[in-house]
Amino acid sequence: MCGIIGYIGHKKAVPILINGLKRLEYRGYDSAGIATIQESQLHIQKQPGKISQLSDHLIHSNLEGTIGIGHTRWATHGEPNYVNAHPHCDCTGKISIIHNGIIENFMALRMELIEKGHRFKSDTDSEVLAHLIEEIYLRCGKLEEAVRIALAQVKGTYGIAVICSDLPRQIIGACKGSPLVVGIGENEHFLASDVCAIVDHTRNVTFLSDNELAIITKDDFIIKTIEDIYVEKKIEEIAFDLEKIEKGGHPHFMLKEITEQPQTIYDSMRGRLLAEEGTARLGGIQNDLDSLLYARRLLITACGTSWHAALIGEYMIEEFVRIPVEVEYASEFRYRDPIIHRDTVVIAISQSGETADTLAAVREAKQKKAKVLGICNAVGSSIARHTDAGIYLHAGPEIGVASTKAFTSQVTVLSLLTLLLSRMTIMSANKGREIAQELLRIPEKVRSILDHKDEIQQIARIYADCQNFLYLGRGYNFPVALEGALKLKEISYIHAEGYPAAEMKHGPIALIDQNMPVIFIATRDSTYDKIISNIEEVRARKGRVIVIATEGDDEIMLKADHVIYVPATMEFLTPLLTIIPLQLLAYYIAVIRGCDVDQPRNLAKSVTVE
Ligand code: AGP
Repeated sequence: MCGIIGYIGHKKAVPILINGLKRLEYRGYDSAGIATIQESQLHIQKQPGKISQLSDHLIHSNLEGTIGIGHTRWATHGEPNYVNAHPHCDCTGKISIIHNGIIENFMALRMELIEKGHRFKSDTDSEVLAHLIEEIYLRCGKLEEAVRIALAQVKGTYGIAVICSDLPRQIIGACKGSPLVVGIGENEHFLASDVCAIVDHTRNVTFLSDNELAIITKDDFIIKTIEDIYVEKKIEEIAFDLEKIEKGGHPHFMLKEITEQPQTIYDSMRGRLLAEEGTARLGGIQNDLDSLLYARRLLITACGTSWHAALIGEYMIEEFVRIPVEVEYASEFRYRDPIIHRDTVVIAISQSGETADTLAAVREAKQKKAKVLGICNAVGSSIARHTDAGIYLHAGPEIGVASTKAFTSQVTVLSLLTLLLSRMTIMSANKGREIAQELLRIPEKVRSILDHKDEIQQIARIYADCQNFLYLGRGYNFPVALEGALKLKEISYIHAEGYPAAEMKHGPIALIDQNMPVIFIATRDSTYDKIISNIEEVRARKGRVIVIATEGDDEIMLKADHVIYVPATMEFLTPLLTIIPLQLLAYYIAVIRGCDVDQPRNLAKSVTVE
């Protein structure tokens, strides 16, 4: 989704801004732009489309300024075109702003400002900020004060950066509900919505909290609240491996991340799985175990892929811990006044830790006095900071828009949580050790599936032209069916539906004919016989059948057009294996169809608007 970078220092701003914007590309965007100040003049360059188009354009512009702001926009209000691209400008052409988030009362503010004589150029909600700041600045003559007063009038969410040609030695940033980080360098400072944008330059950062303002100059920075109170901030050194945000020889981040899963699954368990004792240690929630064990129910909230992982968590925890678990889309949770008792524990799952709906659900749950735990990948993210405690995935940065390694790490962490809680209550040490041993074997089993990726690519070639797909699974593999279908539709734009296999006969069976490929996840588990009947039902209607099956199940070949084998494992861990061929299948189909795998149309990596 939208991205922000700001730079002030001793170097030329433009190359730093462009590099930062490239680092933010993975978030998804449809236009990009920068503003710099040179010889007391504001210069704005913006462009719909890719950052490469913007930088081609900039080659001829000779901008020398050492201060600037840059933005990638993911359209919400107004189509992705030149005028709607950020930065936006006030009427005087002196003030320029970039904005992430949504100004909910922009219409009312805009009308008021138009009445006062302001001329708007774009359809965006963001432009209102430039004019509102201008209006106040012209009265009080102080930019910082104008920004503070303007923000106090705004309803909604924002991460902003503001520059003004009257004050070419400072950038003002502020945030509420949309992240912003200050990067601290040697005679240079940065602002960014995501540390990826600045890690080429510094690892020393401080994260702004909601309603805080940063004033950065070449040599210094200060942080205040929007009520003008100084805030002391801790400077953190972030551990960041640049290699992890490079493709490392892979044609796409998605393939790199799929391939990394043996390691990332292991990393999620490392230091946490206690094989000898047959349990797990989860330091981040060590003080919250009683709340979990004595909870009347657990409520897991998330969006998209993280929601699919949550469903698997529900099945695991209910089976092994026998605590009622409910899973709810964060966007629904937030607006339906859910019943949350003091002894309800809410768990928010999010790869990015910035998803607006999930963050809003966290706030709602906290307001209702629930204990709220987080399962996040991005360290220091908003959800990680707003929850009472949590567990990090340790999967490393996920750049491909389609989530892959984060999903398997989420399922791994949920299985550790299940093991820990169950061992504290009803599970024997022997059973715990058996599970721990099997968890340790999972990375190798994932590797063995990846070794067969060429066969999956062959199958992709056969089905790449299809218009529809159905994914069916039962039990633990029902959420895998949902996730497999989501992967395919996200990156190949093929319509795909995931269903519990038994539900097929209640409707989707009407879709089955010789043109409908149906992917069954039919591993040898407690629902195997039932799902075989569902396969027969599809075959009887001439549907094309692709099965994800357990190695050694030769009979299944007689019932399928294609079989992709995965190693046997414990039933509750099968999602960690069965999802791998589905990720690969979606990937290869998208590549064959010529789709932009890492930045699929209309999608954003972290959805920071509701
Ligand atoms: C996954 O492939 C999607 N791009 C999307 O559904 C994603 O999982 C969802 O937006 C939630 O993101 P989060 O885990 O960062 O909160």
